[in-house]
Amino acid sequence: MEVNPGRVLLPHDYRRIGELILDMEIRKDDVVLVSYPRTGSTWAQEMVWLIGNDLDFERAKTVPQLTRSPLLELSAVLSHEPGEWKKDLNSVESVQLLPSPRYLKTHLPWELLPTQLSTVKPKIIYVARNPKDMCVSFYHYCMLIHNLKGSFEDFCELFLRDRAPMGPIWNHILGFWSRRHEPNILFLTYEEMKRDLSGIIRTTADFLGKTLSENDVNRLEEHLSFGSMKKNPAVNLEPMLEKKNGPSFLRDSGLHFIRKGEVGDWKNHMSSDLAARFDSWTEENLRGTGLRF
Ligand code: A3P
Repeated sequence: MEVNPGRVLLPHDYRRIGELILDMEIRKDDVVLVSYPRTGSTWAQEMVWLIGNDLDFERAKTVPQLTRSPLLELSAVLSHEPGEWKKDLNSVESVQLLPSPRYLKTHLPWELLPTQLSTVKPKIIYVARNPKDMCVSFYHYCMLIHNLKGSFEDFCELFLRDRAPMGPIWNHILGFWSRRHEPNILFLTYEEMKRDLSGIIRTTADFLGKTLSENDVNRLEEHLSFGSMKKNPAVNLEPMLEKKNGPSFLRDSGLHFIRKGEVGDWKNHMSSDLAARFDSWTEENLRGTGLRF
C-alpha cells in the first residue's frame, strides 16, 4: 500500500506499526542508522555497532546483526513471508524493551520516522549510494528475499517512476542530505566507504565520541572487508535464508545478500540508454542540492 506523506510503498502490515513508530519514545543515547535499502547499510551498521560497542568482535560474530541492531519496521516488511520470519513479536515493541544504548536501523524516510527524532536529537547516521548500483543491488535482493520474478528492465522502470519497494529515493536521500549539517546527523555514502574505509571509520568514531588506535582501525577494517563480511553468518543472512528456503537454496539460486560489493556494477546490467535515463533523472533531482555520486 502507499503510505503518505512520502508515497512510500509498504506491505499492509505496516498499518499495525506505522503509528507506533511515529509515536515511539526516542532516547538521547540511541544511535539510529537510516538508509534506502541496498546502500551498504549492513556494512555501515556493522561499523557503527562495533565502534559504539568498543570493538566487541566476539559478540559481533556470534549475535546476528538483526538482533544487535534491529530493523524498526521488520515485522511489517517481512510479515508476509512464510515460516520462521513471521515472528509474533512486533518489532517496534521489542525495540522499546531494549536496554540503552540502542543501535537501531530503519529504511523508512524522515516523514515516517519517530517524531521525537527532531526534538530528542539522538545520533543519526544516514547512508546513500549511487542510484544505478542501488537499483541493480535492489533487484537481486528482491529476487533473493521476496521471490521477485520480473525482469531487471521492468524493475528499473518501477525505480525510475518512484514505484520501487520503499518508494521515491530522492525524497528519502534529500530528507537527510538537507539536514546533514545538524550536529547529530552524519551523512555517509557507499562510494566514500569503498574509497577510504579507514577515513570513514575515523570520522564515524569522532561522531560517536569514541577514540580508536591505529591498530583498532586496522582490525575493524579487516572485519568490515567484503571477504570477511561475505562469509560472516552474523551479517550475511545465510542462516535465515537457508532455514526459510532449504539448505541448497543459496547454491542453486546463486543469489547472495552480500553480493558483489563494487562501485559501478550497473555497467554489467544496464544498456547505455537505460544508464542515460538514470543519469538525467539523477541530474534533475539533485540539481541545486550540492549532492553528487
Ligand atoms: P551489492 O548488491 O552491489 O553487492 P544493504 O546492506 O543496505 O542491503 O546493502 C547491500 C549492499 O552492500 C550489497 O551491494 C552488498 O554486497 C554491499 N556490501 C555489504 N557488505 C559490504 C562490504 N563489506 N564491502 C562492500 N560492499 C558491501
